[in-house]
Amino acid sequence: MAADSVYPISDSMKDAHINREQYEAMYRESIEDPDGFWGRHGKRIDWMRPYTKVKNTSFDRNNLSIRWFEDGTLNASVNCLDRHLADRGDQTAIIFEGDEPDVSRYVSYRELHEKTCRFANALKGLGVKKGDVVTLYMPMIVETAVAMLACARIGAIHSVVFAGFSPEALAARIGNGGSRFVITADEGVRGGRRIPLKSNVDQALEEPAASVVERVVVLGYTGGAMQWHDSRDVDFNGLMEEAEPWCEPEEMNAEDPLFMLYTSGSTGAPKGVLHTTGGYMVYTSITHEYVFDYRPGDVFWCTADVGWITGHSYTLYGPLANGATTLLYEGIPTYPDESRLGRIVDKHQVATLYTAPTGIRALMAGGDHVMDGTSRTSLRLLGTAGEPINPQAWEWFYRVIGNEQAPIVDTWWQTETGGVMIGPLPGAMELKPGSATRPFFGVQPALFDSEGNELEGATGGNLVIKDSWPAQMRTIFGDHERFIKTYFSTYDGVYFTGDGAKRDEDGDYWITGRVDDVLNVSGHRLGTAEVESALVAHDKVAEAAVVGYPHDVKGEGIYVYVTLMKGEEPTDALRDELVQWVRQRIGPIATPDVIQWAPGLPKTRSGKIMRRILRKIASNETDNLGDTSTLADPGVVDELMEYRAFR
Ligand code: WT7
Repeated sequence: MAADSVYPISDSMKDAHINREQYEAMYRESIEDPDGFWGRHGKRIDWMRPYTKVKNTSFDRNNLSIRWFEDGTLNASVNCLDRHLADRGDQTAIIFEGDEPDVSRYVSYRELHEKTCRFANALKGLGVKKGDVVTLYMPMIVETAVAMLACARIGAIHSVVFAGFSPEALAARIGNGGSRFVITADEGVRGGRRIPLKSNVDQALEEPAASVVERVVVLGYTGGAMQWHDSRDVDFNGLMEEAEPWCEPEEMNAEDPLFMLYTSGSTGAPKGVLHTTGGYMVYTSITHEYVFDYRPGDVFWCTADVGWITGHSYTLYGPLANGATTLLYEGIPTYPDESRLGRIVDKHQVATLYTAPTGIRALMAGGDHVMDGTSRTSLRLLGTAGEPINPQAWEWFYRVIGNEQAPIVDTWWQTETGGVMIGPLPGAMELKPGSATRPFFGVQPALFDSEGNELEGATGGNLVIKDSWPAQMRTIFGDHERFIKTYFSTYDGVYFTGDGAKRDEDGDYWITGRVDDVLNVSGHRLGTAEVESALVAHDKVAEAAVVGYPHDVKGEGIYVYVTLMKGEEPTDALRDELVQWVRQRIGPIATPDVIQWAPGLPKTRSGKIMRRILRKIASNETDNLGDTSTLADPGVVDELMEYRAFR
């Protein structure tokens, strides 16, 4: 794989934290002497009791161990707040930009600290204890950051559920986590539309799965109407007023959980990815500084919702650990019009803009003029994450948004990895549109073939990581077996990412996308199995198979094959009904793009659906469907091709 164009290290980055020689030397040290490297860099975090051990890890599946800084103790909220009070207590920690363009709020480190302490005390008053799981179902607002940090302060495990998920999806996550506490708001606002969060929570709590919930803390935010359950619901603002403004932080072991976050896998229910405290804080802090070449005074804007890992690591924990000013935007980049993103950059003099390729492609579709009236000259660095970026979108981001002044760091990582794993350090690496380039310190990527042989040189294969890094997930909440099976059983002794990648002659990595049954729709991960089980729950659906297909804006679109129950008519009305049905069961991110009626699905004699064929039909690659001779009924394929014409 060759790059069409290569961008040399920009002059603006010649004084970056890490130059090319430093990268080479530090990378070598991080691999040859991880204890020495991380032992030194771990000190960037404030410890209550310093660690004496650094790395204690093994990827042997029969003897799996992932422990970092294991005898150290610390508190994440102290690292994000208290330690900044003396030097920069009055500096803005969070710039809140509301959905409506005339709403901004500036919250200093001192204010954020006080709010966090108050809410931490309030949670304690409700009976929340160290190790309890607290579910957040919140808009992108300051109180959400406060609630997360307050959990961290008292050692409760926050589980943020993206506010776009349906009541049913929320209930499943509450139930899986055994979460007795939920924090929400009356409503959220996005793109001028109100989202009935409290009413969704009420509906979720009617599901048997969510019967564990004892208390719901409700923030009166928009003032919208809602039902109130006296025995269960508690007023957020009332609690804050009554609470004491100082809360002693809980002393947490490095390996005590900090949070869990649900993400989709290739099979079954979403997994609660569990992250612990010490390694996560060290790694998010160091990657935030080096990958984004963070400088004191920079305004850092990560556009991801806090319901995703990117929001956890690079809106909140990484930037706050480094004493940065982080921007929290409530809305969407195209409201009230497409110039909003540029307007926010100008208004707050944003230095770093970190976003997803799908958002760039959506803006690009509007043409170059969407940035008219904005200058964006404050931008020093751009970043992308979440899905492969096509070179055209990369070039557009660089030229139109960044005025050809700001390098782009294309960062590959996952909910599971906690922080950036492969991505350019802007002072150390040339940029190639579409390539995530080189691994971060301590990260050892490798490519394996399907037999488990490591591939050398310029080639393509399945991406694995050969040794542990500090922010690695430690387990799937409540299901350690599944953790081992998912990540350590495909190959011996390495972490399997689920992604495919290519490596070029220079040793740079190009991520090609998932190699399992996980879709990446607009940078959001979605298991095909989740969408399928939502569909078969409809009483007119006999069977469903879901695959991805190339989509101009979303990256991957959702293509659904549906076999109806005997006697049911395939009508347009039913098609619309099924689309709505999936939205209601999972959330708008799972909205099917195409539903194709399928009289039958291509299956092997053992009954396994041959997705390869379904993917090809969905992607219009019907010239070469490959070997169909092992199908139980090869005629099914002709039928599908025929119906396809009418989709
Ligand atoms: C999956 C992880 C980046 C963290 C937020 C998403 C895909 C992620 C890239 C990239 C190509 C990427 C992978 C990965 N992905 N970053 N720079 N280039 N693909 O975290 O929801 O856990 O999704 O996103 O397929 O496995 P996530």
